[in-house]
Amino acid sequence: MTISFVLTGVARGELNIMSHLRGHTNTIRLCDSMIREPFGLASVFTEYCHWGSCSDLIDRHSTQPGGALHIRESWLWQAFKQLAAAINYLHTGGGDSSWAPILHLDLKPSNVLLTPGFAGPNIKVADFGSASCIPRGIIGSQTFMGHYAPPERYFYSQGTFTDVWGVGAVMITLCQLKHRIPRAKSVGWKYSGALADAVKWCLYDHHAMRVDSRNLSRLLNGLCAHVNMNTTEGVPPIPPIC
Ligand SMILES: Nc1ncnc2c1ncn2[C@@H]1O[C@H](COP(=O)(O)OP(=O)(O)OP(=O)(O)O)[C@@H](O)[C@H]1O
Ligand SMILES: [Mg+2]
Repeated sequence: MTISFVLTGVARGELNIMSHLRGHTNTIRLCDSMIREPFGLASVFTEYCHWGSCSDLIDRHSTQPGGALHIRESWLWQAFKQLAAAINYLHTGGGDSSWAPILHLDLKPSNVLLTPGFAGPNIKVADFGSASCIPRGIIGSQTFMGHYAPPERYFYSQGTFTDVWGVGAVMITLCQLKHRIPRAKSVGWKYSGALADAVKWCLYDHHAMRVDSRNLSRLLNGLCAHVNMNTTEGVPPIPPIC
């Protein structure tokens, strides 16, 4: 279990959203919370993710003694599909017509955690401190994506397309093993054209050009069906040293 301390105002929104999620496999599970009114602080207890975050994974792969070791493409597709499943769930509740869409608005490698899994680590989207429910209004809502900020942050209101950008941002940094989005927005020559296309469709500067979050999973399944997943290029995700 992990504890984070947040201001009560932020915590109320975060807790409200996390309790709403009821444990989708690719979103972090809330274990407990404590609001300490007199101090204006709250503690949020979440499941502990033994593999750390995608940011930690990038560090492990980029700082190997013999030079950077890029991540095997088959796992990148798994991560991509799980991220797509997580945002589709946030945005649609998996098809629940009474669902109030949730926007994460702060998807970046340090907010995407990893738990041990059968075919490499599994994705857990975490840190709902910037998240917003659409009915409460998102126009002008503040995001904190720093190096990963989408262009619309400065020009338009944000929407589900902002989380699609966040997924693309996480994927391109996992491909490039860098802590920022490269200027050319390229996944690099080590990966297939299909992966390059899928990432590109998430990272169009103009939000209207990006793939719709409701269609992303289907698009990824279609694209990866044509990719050779048996290649031994790159290495499986490197686990943390215990
Ligand atoms: N539940 C968890 N299980 C395992 N590691 C975690 C967990 N929550 C956070 N971490 C670790 O803490 C690191 C920092 O996370 P944190 O959300 O505090 O900072 P940040 O995302 O870099 O910044 P911020 O969220 O304030 O913008 C993560 O990269 C990860 O290594
Ligand atoms: Mg964070």
